[in-house]
Amino acid sequence: MKRIRVWDLPVRLFHWLLVLAVLAAFASEKAGNMDAHAFAGLAVLGLVVFRVVWGVIGSRTARFASFVRGPAAIREYLAGRWQGEGHNPLGALSVLAILAALLLQALSGLIANDDSSFFGPLYDLVSRDTSDLASRLHRLQELVIIGLVVLHVAAIDFYARVKKQDLLRPMVTGWREGEGEGTQGGGALAFVIAVAIAAAAVYAASGALLPPPPPPEAIPPPPAW
Ligand code: HEM
Repeated sequence: MKRIRVWDLPVRLFHWLLVLAVLAAFASEKAGNMDAHAFAGLAVLGLVVFRVVWGVIGSRTARFASFVRGPAAIREYLAGRWQGEGHNPLGALSVLAILAALLLQALSGLIANDDSSFFGPLYDLVSRDTSDLASRLHRLQELVIIGLVVLHVAAIDFYARVKKQDLLRPMVTGWREGEGEGTQGGGALAFVIAVAIAAAAVYAASGALLPPPPPPEAIPPPPAW
C-alpha cells in the first residue's frame, strides 16, 4: 500500500502543543494559579498566531486557501463528491471556529481582571468598563471552547467508527495510507518567519513594551509631636 504525507511537522507540533496549552490554561484557572494561567494563555496566543501565519506560508494542506471553501464545496462534500487532501470543507469550518474562539479568548484575557488580584498584562491600556466586558466575554467563551472541543473530538471519533477513516494517525505521524499528491511547500525559512512573528506577538502581549509603572509616591514622615 502506498502512503502520502498529509500534515507537515509544524502543523502537527502546533496541534499537540495547542492541546497541552489549552488543557494547562483550563487546569491552572480551576486551581486558582493565575500566573500559570496567564503563561498558558500567552502560549495559546503564540500558537494561534503561528498557525495563522503558517496558514499563509506553510505547506499546501496547511494553507487556508487550500481548505477554506464556500457553501458549494460543502454541498459537494455532503453529497459524497468531494475529493482532496487535508481538512474537508465541513471540517474546515470547525478548524476556523476553534482558531477564532481561542484567539478571542487569548486576546480578551490580556485585558481582563478578576475584580481582586488578577489583571491581564495589557489591562492598563483599556478602561475599567472595557476590561469588565472582556472579562465577561472571557468567562462565557470558556463554554464555547469546551463545546467546540467536544464536537471536534466527537467528529474524529465518528470518522473512526462510522466512516472507518482514521484521521488521528496522520495528525500524529503526518502520513496516511493511499494514493494522492501529498503536501508540499512550507520549509525552514517559512517556519522561522512564522515562529518569529508569533514570538513578537507574545512579547508585545506580555506587556513587555509598556512603560514601567511610576515609583510609589514617598510617604511624608509623621510629624514629630
Ligand atoms: C484542547 C483540545 C483540542 C484543540 C483546541 C484542537 C484543535 C485543533 C485544530 C485547530 C485543528 C486544525 C489543525 C490545523 O489545521 O492546524 C485540529 C485538527 C485535528 N485534531 Fe484537534 N484539537 C484538540 C484536541 C484533539 C484531540 C484530543 C484529538 C484526538 C482525538 C484531536 C485530533 C485532531 C485531528 C485528527 C485533526 C485533523 C482533522 C482532519 O483531518 O481534518 N484533537 N484540532
